[in-house]
Amino acid sequence: MIIELLVTSKAKKDITPAEISDILETSYKFNTENDITGCLLYHNGEFIHLLEGEQKKVQELYSKVVFDNRHTDVSKLIQNPIEKRYFSSWTMAFNEIPAINSANIKGYISINDFNNLTCSMNRSSTARNMFLYLTQTIITVKGKEI
Ligand SMILES: Cc1cc2nc3c(=O)[nH]c(=O)nc-3n(C[C@H](O)[C@H](O)[C@H](O)COP(=O)(O)O)c2cc1C
Repeated sequence: MIIELLVTSKAKKDITPAEISDILETSYKFNTENDITGCLLYHNGEFIHLLEGEQKKVQELYSKVVFDNRHTDVSKLIQNPIEKRYFSSWTMAFNEIPAINSANIKGYISINDFNNLTCSMNRSSTARNMFLYLTQTIITVKGKEI
């Protein structure tokens, strides 16, 4: 059974660009190998994470992610079976971080590309709807000038 899982968390206060790139590199490799699709948005110290994949694989991944000390306040908001995935691959978006050479990071998309990817997103699932709401809220309300 394929499920979608929506998770939010706060980055630890002193998170470094190296730690953020490590999260992206590890996630891209593991998620691609395990047929896990979705998107992780990092913005102003907050993570919003939407995962799609085989139930067992997604739950096993979540049980590792929840104990990762690079973030706190991890909340599993929605876990639902879905008939069809929305994302065709694994992606991660964040504003340019000067210390990270995003061009070398597979799966990285800019906030502009993230907006393009999500603006036409089909909202027929609860998790996708909530993902869009939360991501747009932190990008436009709390966000600094993009
Ligand atoms: C916000 C956040 C999201 C993460 N998302 C993923 C992910 O989607 N896939 C993944 O493999 N690791 C992800 N990680 C990293 C995992 O927590 C963990 O470091 C990784 O699975 C390697 O664990 P292992 O060394 O025990 O195998 C994430 C970490 C954080 C802080």
